[in-house]
Amino acid sequence: QPSLGALARSQGLTFGAAVQGQLLETDPDYHRAFETEAAILVPEWEAKWSALQPQEGRFDTAPLDSILRWAQSRARPVRGHALIWHNDLPDWTRAALGEGRDRALAVMAAHFDRVLSHARGQIRDWDVVNEPVANPPGSDVPQAGPGELRDTPWLRALGPNYIDIAFRMARERDPTLRLTLNEYGIEEDTPDATEKRRRLLALLRSLLARGTPLDAVGIQAHLQMVRPFRPAPFAAFLAELRQMGLAVLITELDVREAPSPPQDMGARDALVAERAHAFVATALEGGVRTILTWGLSDKYSWLATEPAVALRDGRTHRGLPLDAEWRRKALWEALARAFQGR
Ligand code: G3I
Repeated sequence: QPSLGALARSQGLTFGAAVQGQLLETDPDYHRAFETEAAILVPEWEAKWSALQPQEGRFDTAPLDSILRWAQSRARPVRGHALIWHNDLPDWTRAALGEGRDRALAVMAAHFDRVLSHARGQIRDWDVVNEPVANPPGSDVPQAGPGELRDTPWLRALGPNYIDIAFRMARERDPTLRLTLNEYGIEEDTPDATEKRRRLLALLRSLLARGTPLDAVGIQAHLQMVRPFRPAPFAAFLAELRQMGLAVLITELDVREAPSPPQDMGARDALVAERAHAFVATALEGGVRTILTWGLSDKYSWLATEPAVALRDGRTHRGLPLDAEWRRKALWEALARAFQGR
């Protein structure tokens, strides 16, 4: 059966995944999977602050460049992730952001100057701001700041306008870029996700009302089996985004599985596949044309830090299309079916 990348392309879609450059070099199975399955890539960490500018003024683009070279030689697009985020910030940046508005603006501008000029023509769309919306009070980490924005060093340094400032700074430096706002926890049919969708829509409306150069919304889609998903509310949300003239892409899809005893693995795989299918089918019906999973194989999933959700003949399952032995899972089949509208 053809790869997910090829199946997607045959339907006018683009499928890919988050990649780590060094694994492309060190793990032949990893390399083969990306060669086969991923038509678009996003660096899992190589385009973040702690990787790109570990000390002020010292840029290390080597890890990112190895991904850009690999992708370039295969004519595959690379997404940029992420210009502004509260996580993976070096200590020097956190300190600088506490030294007043002018310093914060200068630090942001210097990073954008270097990174956007370095990647120009190689990265066509960036997550300019990642996860700016505060999670609702009941959820995991409430960080309510003014205007329902997550309380981050950027917000504290520059106020709620930091988002508008970041998008304008990116647009000024490279008008050819597609500028994306990326968020999580906005997919499922829970009170928290419903509230977070409302908050995100309000933020987007206010940004567009003031003319912020914003082109797209990235929906991370770290789905969790312990939460319900219903197509209708998510479809309505996608329709609102399209009404605002925003492109929408799925940026980090994976499915965190509920812990269950090994003997239930088969049933659980089927439920995970069903969830992924329902979600992707709804996204495609809502106009989404680009879908990335957050990695390809359970062997390297970020969820590996989670307690093993289940072991079957020694394999741990982490919600990506390929299992730890690079075999296609029911989730892989579900994505293939959804891409073909089946
Ligand atoms: O920076 C070092 C690098 O110098 C070293 O060579 C390399 C060796 O493996 O590790 C690098 O460090 C870690 C990196 O993952 C690679 O493993 C970083 O310390 C660690 O913080 C980083 O974690 C990433 C995390 O974001 C924070 O950036 C995870 O891989 C990545 O899966 C996770 O992804 C986030 C998205 O960006 C946003 N959405 C949620 C998603 C999951 O948390």
